Amino acid sequence: MLLLTAILATLTTLTPATPLSNRADKCSIPSWTLQSIKATYSGETYTPGNAVLVITKPLTNETESLDCPLLFNSVCQLERTPADPDLRVYLQINMGTASITFNQTWTCETAQAGEGVGPKFVIGSGEFEVHCPDEVTETMTCTGPLGGTVVVNGTVTTVALDLETGE
Ligand SMILES: *[C@@H]1O[C@H](CO)[C@@H](O)[C@H](O)[C@H]1NC(C)=O
Ligand SMILES: *[C@@H]1O[C@H](CO)[C@@H](O)[C@H](O)[C@H]1NC(C)=O
Ligand SMILES: *[C@@H]1O[C@H](CO)[C@@H](O)[C@H](O)[C@H]1NC(C)=O
Repeated sequence: MLLLTAILATLTTLTPATPLSNRADKCSIPSWTLQSIKATYSGETYTPGNAVLVITKPLTNETESLDCPLLFNSVCQLERTPADPDLRVYLQINMGTASITFNQTWTCETAQAGEGVGPKFVIGSGEFEVHCPDEVTETMTCTGPLGGTVVVNGTVTTVALDLETGE
């Protein structure tokens, strides 16, 4: 009886605090699909243009439309999305060429002690082409991505890693 109690106590200790299903979700590495982009330039230097991005998260099939101020008609940065406070989006656009970077806070719990020190992030970026009007104007609208959607796969990284590489 004493032995059984000891075994049960051990089992209880070993049981993860988080249910396995939740762990699986948190530990799946996110990717993102850029469905469409519509970037409208501003004719005024200090008034940002506007980019509308439609993204889908393949893990959940959740689709979001993001409104992003396009500074100097070239960059937009979101520190969160309306549906996800842990997702940052960075877009750079230069006439017909654009790139997008996703930076998601990684909440997967690591089993071994010592791992998972400090926040981790899942980062991914992709480049693509957009279509701008033949006649370049101050308030033109460019749309894309040309050739269909862009899938961006994430990879897990840490801030410490960024510091090491000097990035
Ligand atoms: C997302 O949609 C795709 C295509 O419709 C489907 O194959 C996949 O199972 C869906 N995933 C989830 C998590 O609902
Ligand atoms: C991802 O976002 C976090 C939080 O803003 C930041 O500390 C980190 O440097 C970012 N990583 C990259 C590669 O941009
Ligand atoms: C992203 O991951 C999917 C599934 O693992 C793979 O088929 C695809 O080639 C990857 N795409 C890129 C751009 O690495």
